[in-house]
Amino acid sequence: KESKIGKAHGKIILMGEHAVVYGEPSIALPFPAVEMLATVRENEGPLRIDCSYYHGIADEMPEILQSLKKAIKVALDSLDKPYENLSISIESAIPPERGMGSSAAVAVAVTRAIYQYYQTELSHEKLLELVSIAERIAHGNPSGLDAITTSGSSPVYYRKGHDFVPFDLQMDAYLVVGDTGVTGQTKEAVQSIADRIQQEDQPISLNKIHTLGSLADHARTFLEKNDAVSLGKTMDHAHQLLVELGVSNKELDTLVKAAKKAGALGAKLTGGGRGGCMIALVANEADTFALQKTLREAGAVATWVTSLKKEESR
Ligand code: MEV
Repeated sequence: KESKIGKAHGKIILMGEHAVVYGEPSIALPFPAVEMLATVRENEGPLRIDCSYYHGIADEMPEILQSLKKAIKVALDSLDKPYENLSISIESAIPPERGMGSSAAVAVAVTRAIYQYYQTELSHEKLLELVSIAERIAHGNPSGLDAITTSGSSPVYYRKGHDFVPFDLQMDAYLVVGDTGVTGQTKEAVQSIADRIQQEDQPISLNKIHTLGSLADHARTFLEKNDAVSLGKTMDHAHQLLVELGVSNKELDTLVKAAKKAGALGAKLTGGGRGGCMIALVANEADTFALQKTLREAGAVATWVTSLKKEESR
């Protein structure tokens, strides 16, 4: 049988991470600058998984490999195929565990590759359903946002339990993404918010989560109106609330402060937090170069730029 490839890409959550787990609105963008490839080949004997990509990290976080194995099993079960006679290899430019959706992307890529290999049609709906089963192991309580954005080509407005709404970006502005280099802890961060809510006798954290949802709605309006200054302010406010909810960390705060000091219109963590990446908004492309330099000097191990005008990233 011929080998087959399945693809996925990274994602950036513009607004609404964590709040989306509680049914609040969110906005996220596909991030095609970083891609994930899964290749399925014929192989005699037991299933072979080659993902040097996760080396080191999988020792610290064995659930990563479990969720990958689960994604493979879920896909094979859904096709009524055995968990053997295949070799699956993963190649990725998505930094793992940095809030860029690598765990959802790997599930998307292997599911696509397995369906291709068995020459079976895979609807987007079915893909999301299968990936959400694997994602439950990675995060415990995934909203589904990562699966939608790592598999789709449009920015989306999304509330858990509702259909996602794709939309076109038309803002004259750029996002600079900075990677702290610190492995994020999405599962722990999601759990820590759940614990906080449980322990409080006043709905303090729930109010913050609700405010984060309203900010995502405002952000959508500002995107539509091409109002980058106001979008920047909502990003700053969102970061402050995420700090108060305990999901930022020192490295993220350092990069966010450096970006603001360098003149960014707004800056916040993106994704699960407690490590991983942050994003900063600037109006002019020329400013993206200086800002990347600033972020690197402040400790970022990698930076990227993506346009909010159309799908242009590098
Ligand atoms: C993680 O990329 C985003 C979170 O909102 C979790 C989720 O939506 O499942 C923190």
